[in-house]
Amino acid sequence: MQLLHTPADMQQWALAQRSRGIRLGCVPTMGCLHDGHLALVREAQTRADQVVVTIFVNPTQFGPHEDFHRYPRPLADDLARCRKAGVSAVFLPQPAQMYAADHSIYVVEEQLGNGLCGAARPGHFRGVCTVVAKLFNLTLPHVAIFGQKDYQQAAIIRRMVRDLDFPIEVVVAPIVREPDGLALSSRNRYLSTDERQRARGLSQALRLVRDAGETDAAAVCQRVQTLLTETYQLRVDYVAAVDGQTLQPVPSLQPGVAIILAAFAGTTRLIDNTLLGHPTDSAQGIPAP
Ligand code: PAJ
Repeated sequence: MQLLHTPADMQQWALAQRSRGIRLGCVPTMGCLHDGHLALVREAQTRADQVVVTIFVNPTQFGPHEDFHRYPRPLADDLARCRKAGVSAVFLPQPAQMYAADHSIYVVEEQLGNGLCGAARPGHFRGVCTVVAKLFNLTLPHVAIFGQKDYQQAAIIRRMVRDLDFPIEVVVAPIVREPDGLALSSRNRYLSTDERQRARGLSQALRLVRDAGETDAAAVCQRVQTLLTETYQLRVDYVAAVDGQTLQPVPSLQPGVAIILAAFAGTTRLIDNTLLGHPTDSAQGIPAP
């Protein structure tokens, strides 16, 4: 497994592989790798000859009061997991190598990123788009894999690839969950035992939406909000029923609608979602309470 520390080395490696006719897959991550990330690696391996994982805790996508400095960085573990998974190369740049001190260009998406997590985290998707565009230019993949876990992020990256003509196929892979339904996340390790118990509420709420058969979006979102707040004692950031493509709010639930939510367990912000009527509807993996 190649370890590539600088942007120049990364790009050179990718160019060399491409010149030999090798099809490259890329899985961008911030590290602290779990089985959700590894599922993306496996997906990439079915679609490419060699897979590059990028591990970079990207400062530009964190707000001033967010967890950039305490974000977990278990590098030795991450590398062991990549090696075991048969990853060909890992790109591990330092922030100063990715961002010149006087860097002044960003990639800004102006529609899909306004609501949902974008409303709660100003500048977040600007940071994500900017770093993913850079990672695409450095890893030069034919195909890149993202997780449905970050539904809005995946939609925005698809839009960026379309609108900026990146010659890259974007694949979105299903959410990997713990046995009790909680979506795997690097941030789950922040949860206390009690918060971890209550964090089940997110997936349980999505299951309720699926089972309820109710089609009035406002009524369902209200029920979900009440469940999260009262039963699971979580502080809700938002619960929304949106068109799965445009991310605009919809009045009624039907196939193609995504239910997306974000809530705090203590100080840890958790997200989850389900796409109704979809063959890989993530809620299908959610166990009964
Ligand atoms: P990170 O949170 O490390 O996630 C990397 C990728 O793993 C994302 O595409 C995310 O959707 C996916 N992922 C996370 N948890 C998952 C789960 N339980 N099941 C399936 N996929 C999951 O998302 C980022 O990093 C960053 O914003 C990044 C795109 C790397 C840009 O910095």
